[in-house]
Amino acid sequence: SETEKNTLRSPICAILGHVDTGKTKILDRIRKSKVQEGEAGGITQQIGASFFPVEELRRKTKSIPAAQRLQLSVPGLLVIDTPGHESFANLRSRGSSLCDIAILVVDIMHGLQQQTLESLHLLRVRNSPFIVALNKIDRMYGWEPHQDAPLRDTMKKQEKHVRDEYDARVQKTITEFAEQGINAIEYHKNKDFRKYVSLVGTSAVTGEGIPDLLMLLVQLAQRFMTERLTTRDRLECSVLEVKMIEGLGTTIDVILVNGVLHEGDEIVVCGLNGPIVTNIRALLTPKPMHEIRVKTDYIHHKVIYASQGVKIAAPDLVDAIAGSSLYVVGDEIDREAAIDLAKKE
Ligand code: GTP
Ligand code: MG
Ligand code: NA
Repeated sequence: SETEKNTLRSPICAILGHVDTGKTKILDRIRKSKVQEGEAGGITQQIGASFFPVEELRRKTKSIPAAQRLQLSVPGLLVIDTPGHESFANLRSRGSSLCDIAILVVDIMHGLQQQTLESLHLLRVRNSPFIVALNKIDRMYGWEPHQDAPLRDTMKKQEKHVRDEYDARVQKTITEFAEQGINAIEYHKNKDFRKYVSLVGTSAVTGEGIPDLLMLLVQLAQRFMTERLTTRDRLECSVLEVKMIEGLGTTIDVILVNGVLHEGDEIVVCGLNGPIVTNIRALLTPKPMHEIRVKTDYIHHKVIYASQGVKIAAPDLVDAIAGSSLYVVGDEIDREAAIDLAKKE
């Protein structure tokens, strides 16, 4: 209902994993975007964010009848892309610290790798529920692609040797997870989501298994919503990037994890030369299913509810520090308290 929409925040899902396992490409396939092709060296170097409305999730899981029974009492999911390259451990840590749930992407041809283990550690520390995408199934020898097909459907149409290879790779991955103390199982066999982590084969190139992945994601979000407090009264907002945008001046990209932002709000953010006190001149988001990292036609808002990736235009942001928190002066804290908090960052 509308009332629920006003008190519940959308869950945040981080996508984590070793470099080049296909995290960004999976999001591109879902969004029908080409973000990965535009990345320098094909490497993600910033945290990304895009909003997936419930209607889009529903549309993209139509091919799976069971998914139609799933409901989410929030407008959608905020999906956070993270870099897998080893040198961006700080961004992975920051990304995972913002998330409620996660997708861990593993290259089915490689199994668990160094940053897979690092990501697992981050998820464990935060006790975040997650699912595993075993990506690049199309790279198995003899694979016959069936664009956007649910996993089980395309699997039935593969030659026996391909199915055998898939089964063997899944078994090997399950063993590798067991070595990390994690019980993993193919998702359609998973009868106990508390004990077992679901695995699903995917291809970001053919779209196979993506409907299944999205169905599992909605299931996980739904479970998260029923198990944890999801009110959004308390403000939690994290600065991702400081960017110069023609026509807007210096802007900050933030993840609004919890709470509400209004145009005109007095805000305090960490700056190189001490706390910056300023007022929100414009509150912007990319369109749904668009990446905030990519310059686009932004939507202007008077008010934004968590969770969202938001671009804020305001005076004096040039020295703002990425990775710090943003505070809103108001009922919760006064200006002096906000400045003190920003000083302590
Ligand atoms: P980082 O963010 O840099 O860690 O990489 P990533 O995990 O986001 O992987 P990315 O999306 O950049 O993909 C890496 C490479 O793998 C690209 O060349 C993709 O085209 C390719 N790739 C990704 N997914 C698939 C897939 O399912 N099948 C095949 N064949 N190639 C894929
Ligand atoms: Mg990437
Ligand atoms: Na990459």
